[in-house]
Amino acid sequence: MDYDKILILDFGGQYSQLIARRVREFNVYSIIKAHNISIEEINEIDPAAVIFSGGPDSVTAAGAPGVNQGVFELGIPILGICYGMQLMAQLLEGGHVEKAAHGEYGKAQLELFTQKTLFDGVEANSQVWMSHGDHVEKLPDGFEVIAKTELTETAAMADFERNFYGVQFHPEVNHTIHGKIILHNFLFKITKAKATWNMADYINEEVDKIRNQVGKGKVICGLSGGVDSAVASAIVHKAIGDQLTCIFVDHGLLRKGEATQVKRTFAEEFNIPLVYVDARERFLKRLKGVSDPENKRKIIGDEFIRVFEEEADKLEDVRYLVQGTIYSDVIESGGTEKAATIKSHHNVGGLPDDMNLELVEPLHFLFKDEVRKIGEVLGLPDDIVWRQPFPGPGLAIRIIGDIDKKKLDILREADAIIQEEIKEAGLYREIWQSFAVLPDLRSVGVMGDERTYGYPIILRAVNSDDAMTADWARLPYELMQSISNRIVNKVGEVNRVVYDITSKPPGTIEWE
Ligand code: XMP
Repeated sequence: MDYDKILILDFGGQYSQLIARRVREFNVYSIIKAHNISIEEINEIDPAAVIFSGGPDSVTAAGAPGVNQGVFELGIPILGICYGMQLMAQLLEGGHVEKAAHGEYGKAQLELFTQKTLFDGVEANSQVWMSHGDHVEKLPDGFEVIAKTELTETAAMADFERNFYGVQFHPEVNHTIHGKIILHNFLFKITKAKATWNMADYINEEVDKIRNQVGKGKVICGLSGGVDSAVASAIVHKAIGDQLTCIFVDHGLLRKGEATQVKRTFAEEFNIPLVYVDARERFLKRLKGVSDPENKRKIIGDEFIRVFEEEADKLEDVRYLVQGTIYSDVIESGGTEKAATIKSHHNVGGLPDDMNLELVEPLHFLFKDEVRKIGEVLGLPDDIVWRQPFPGPGLAIRIIGDIDKKKLDILREADAIIQEEIKEAGLYREIWQSFAVLPDLRSVGVMGDERTYGYPIILRAVNSDDAMTADWARLPYELMQSISNRIVNKVGEVNRVVYDITSKPPGTIEWE
């Protein structure tokens, strides 16, 4: 392996994965390990530099997460971020950390005392993102202050001799305007890392890991039509070929043309053994008369598991299950200590523990755009790689109230028009999600000389980075007009189109 490795030690901060991702963006390999890793393990990894992440604790509290002191003797650069900087100050000779009189949260103005090394190319005054209650009260021996903010005297510190740096702010988040330059400087000016790692290397490493994990075992994967499960199964197929069988449950809540495309891509183009299950009737039957959103989710999740288990039982000796879980799923489902679950999202389409299958999760630490990159490298078609996210319960949570085949058909047609128009306008990749919602109400209109009484279609289009927050997309008026005209003229029983101009929060992206 001819690439440098950056070891990120995790102190429980919410941005640890984001640091790793930023490093990957610069084509440098990064690996995250728990803060208490032993020196032997660190030596085995043989990192070119170490980054200490942030964390929720106070370094002054008893039992606060520490680090093996030997890390400071390795002779490699270290960057401490937030908690990581305070830990450096606390552990290194001469330093001291105390509770600050005022914490500092949110945006702050950083004033530099040097524009060299870590701050090469950074403006003398720029916005950074802060989130801390403690501060470095006394610098460790050999350090100097290299930046301050109004509330924090030591907003950044450096020991240029040993190449130890600490920043109280978070360079990994977008609110720190020059954060990427700072990380770039740490990687290339200070560490002198080689930018030789790429997504093809990631795939090769995952392929090795998957082979090691499953050996000759049989593996199944549930395909949803979305990019995550598609990329996950494509990687696993690359690793173990026909030991993998994909199961595609068509619950009838998919978008127009989706089932056909999944069949074509996986069975025909990739030659992956694929079990297609037409469960449309089953789902409709169970959803009949159900209007409560959480109930719908539960029923769909439940039925999905049943169908999936039935099919899995037909295959013999299956021991592993591929899941296309990506990093934002882990956070949104309350997978970290801090995050709370807002909807019962990702349980839908999830499978129960008692299936006794070991999970294979090759995308667990990746962000959506990284998954797409991998999909491209693996040769998946653009239509799948660039597909906008689509919820597991599908169109069911975009029909307000109870569901029947007629409403599904109306929504599917309207949605197809929206997809086409957005694609034609060249906005499909830029917009996070764009879709139609069918509410449970009707209104009066006029067509020709006739009074109509039909459904409105709600057009929803949002920009987002990770679905945790979102803003409604400022679509061009001509595009909205064209969508509206086509839907009202082509989709029977629809006589009105409205646009949802609510951000998240307070709204959610989906209507249910
Ligand atoms: P909300 O509506 O909570 O959605 O803003 C955030 C993101 O999650 C998707 N979503 C789901 N995905 N199962 C899924 O797999 C679900 O039940 C589900 N509900 C919402 C939604 O499309 C958006 O991208």
